[in-house]
Amino acid sequence: MKIGILSRNNNLYSTRRLVEAARVRGHEVRVIDTLAIAIEIGVADEPDMGIKVIESPRRQGRRWGMLPDATTFLPQVDAIIPRIGASITYYGLTVVRQFEANGVLTTAASQAIAQSRDKLQSLQIMHRAGLPVPKTAVIVKPEALYSAIQAVGPPPVVVKLIQGTQGRGVILARNWQTTAAVLEKLRAYNKQALVQEYVSEAEGRDIRIIVVGDRCVAAMMRVAPDGEFRANLHRGGTAVPITLDSETEQLALAAARAHGLSVGGIDIIESERGPLLLEVNSSPGIEGIETATGKDVAGEIIHFLERQNKRKRGAD
Ligand SMILES: Nc1ncnc2c1ncn2[C@@H]1O[C@H](COP(=O)(O)OP(=O)(O)O)[C@@H](O)[C@H]1O
Ligand SMILES: [Mg+2]
Repeated sequence: MKIGILSRNNNLYSTRRLVEAARVRGHEVRVIDTLAIAIEIGVADEPDMGIKVIESPRRQGRRWGMLPDATTFLPQVDAIIPRIGASITYYGLTVVRQFEANGVLTTAASQAIAQSRDKLQSLQIMHRAGLPVPKTAVIVKPEALYSAIQAVGPPPVVVKLIQGTQGRGVILARNWQTTAAVLEKLRAYNKQALVQEYVSEAEGRDIRIIVVGDRCVAAMMRVAPDGEFRANLHRGGTAVPITLDSETEQLALAAARAHGLSVGGIDIIESERGPLLLEVNSSPGIEGIETATGKDVAGEIIHFLERQNKRKRGAD
C-alpha cells in the first residue's frame, strides 16, 4: 500500500513510529506536511486530482508568488493517517475531506475529527448514544451560572475550554467566585467553556484507551502528579499499563463508534457511578502508551489500514 501520514513534523515520535511500522510491513510511506498541501476544486475531474503538495522553496530566498518552478506533485496514496494538531484543525479537515472525496482510506474521517475536537459536541454525541458522561452544563450569560452549578452539583467544578488539548484549558474551580471569575475571563477572550462536575473520587487518575477498528489495543492508567488533578502525561502524569474490564472496554469502543472514529484515544474517568467518558481524541499520542504498555500501537494502526484496503478491494 501507499500510505500518507499527514503531519507537520516528521521528527515526532508518533510520526516516526507510524513510518517505521508501515515500512516494516512492506508499505510505501511518506510524511506529508498538512500545510504544504494545496487543494484545487473544480479544476480537474479525474480522480486523485485536486490535491497537490507544494514543496517549499527552501534556501532559495525567493518569494512564493515569484516561483515558477515550485515543485508540485500529486501524492497517490491508498490511505492516509491524519495527525492534525489542534491549531490547524480547520485546514486539516479540508485536506482530509479532499482525500475522502478521492476515495482514499483514512484512520480518522473528517467528520469524526471535527466531532471529537469540539468537546461539547462530543459529549452531546456520547450522551445521545446512551453513554455515561460527567454532568456538564454550558452557559453564556453569567446569570446562568447558578443554574449551571445546580445542574452539575456544588463546587468544586471543572471548567473546560471546548477546544482544549493536553490538559490546557482544564481548570478546577473550588468555589462560586472562582468559577464565575474564570468564566468571565474566558468570555472576555471570546472562548467558549463548559462547566462539569468534578469527579473527586478519581483522585487524579484516569484511563486512556487506544481503539483501533473494533478493538481496544492498549490501555493505561494515568496518575496526576501531587497537587494536580489532570492526569495528562503532558502535565507530568505517570502511566501504568492496565487490563480493562469488559464494561470499560465496551464503553471505549462505543464512544469511538458514536463519533465514527476508526482510530482514537478515549479518556475515561472512574466515578462512584461507574466509568464516565471524558473525551475522544482523533490524533492520540502514541509514545506514552507504547512506552507504558509495550504494545505495538503503530503496527496495529497500519494493520487496520491493511484490513480496510483488502475489504475495499474486495468490494470494488
Ligand atoms: N470532570 C472531571 N473530574 C475530574 N478530573 C477531570 C475531569 N475532567 C477532566 N479531568 C482531568 O483532566 C484531564 C484533562 O481533561 P480532558 O477532558 O481529557 O481534556 P484534554 O483534552 O485537555 O486532555 C483528564 O485526563 C482528567 O485527568
Ligand atoms: Mg484528555
